[in-house]
Amino acid sequence: MKLETKRLILRKPKISDWKDIVEGIGDLEVSKNLSNVPYPYKKEDALWWIKKTIKKWNKKVQEDYSFMIELKSEKKAIGSLGIHNLDNFNKICTTGSWLNQKYHRKGYITEAKIVVNEFAFNKLKMRKMETGAFVDNKASNATQKSIGYEYEGLRKKHYLSKSTGKIHDENLYGLMKEDWKKNLPKLKKHLEEKIKKLDKKK
Ligand SMILES: CC(C)(COP(=O)(O)OP(=O)(O)OC[C@H]1O[C@@H](n2cnc3c(N)ncnc32)[C@H](O)[C@@H]1OP(=O)(O)O)[C@@H](O)C(=O)NCCC(=O)NCCS
Repeated sequence: MKLETKRLILRKPKISDWKDIVEGIGDLEVSKNLSNVPYPYKKEDALWWIKKTIKKWNKKVQEDYSFMIELKSEKKAIGSLGIHNLDNFNKICTTGSWLNQKYHRKGYITEAKIVVNEFAFNKLKMRKMETGAFVDNKASNATQKSIGYEYEGLRKKHYLSKSTGKIHDENLYGLMKEDWKKNLPKLKKHLEEKIKKLDKKK
C-alpha cells in the first residue's frame, strides 16, 4: 500500500532507506524535537527502526502505519509520517512526523498530511486524530495549527528528549473529521499557491 501526491510517495520503509534516515533524523536540529531518538544516530539505529516498522506493516491487523516520505524528484527518503495507536473502538489515532532539515518549510509535511489524514478518516474510518508537540517546537506547533488541529491542553514535563537529555512540556492537539473536511479545500489551495511560489524562486 502506498499513497501518492504531486511531489511525494508515502510508502512502507525499506532496508535501503537507512542512509537517508541517518542523514535526516541524525541531525540534532531534528531529533531534539523528538522523544526516543538517540544522538549520535547510527546505521544500526536506523536498521532497528526499519525492521520494527516493516513488522508492524506486515501484521494481519495493522495498528500502525509509519510511512516513509519519498521525494519523487530525488528518489530520496526525506522523512517519516506515522499513524499510531489506532483505536478502533473510539476511532482515534495519533500521528507523528519528522523531515530532513534540508527540506523544511517547503510544504512537504502539509502535502503528506493531506493524503495521510484523508487515509485515516476515509479508509481507516477514524473520527478524530491527535498529535502533540514540545511547547518550544515552533515549527511543529505552527504546522499543527496550519493543518487545522485545535489546541486541547498541556502536559507538563511529559517527555524526555533522548538526544538532548532535556524534559519538555507538551502541547496536545486534536482534529475532528468534520473540521478537517471543512478546512481541506482551503488547505489544498493554500498548498498549491505555496508550491507555485516556491517553483518561481527556483
Ligand atoms: C515540524 C516539521 C515536520 C514541519 O515540516 P515542514 O515540511 O517544514 O512544514 P510545512 O512546510 O508543511 O509548513 C507547515 C506550516 O508550518 C509553518 N512552519 C513550518 N516551520 C516553521 C517554523 N520554523 N517557524 C514558523 N512556522 C513554521 C509553515 O509556515 C506552514 O504554515 P503556513 O503554510 O500557514 O505558512 C519539520 O519542521 C520537522 O521535521 N521538524 C523537526 C522534527 C519535528 O519537530 N517533528 C515534529 C515533532 S512533534
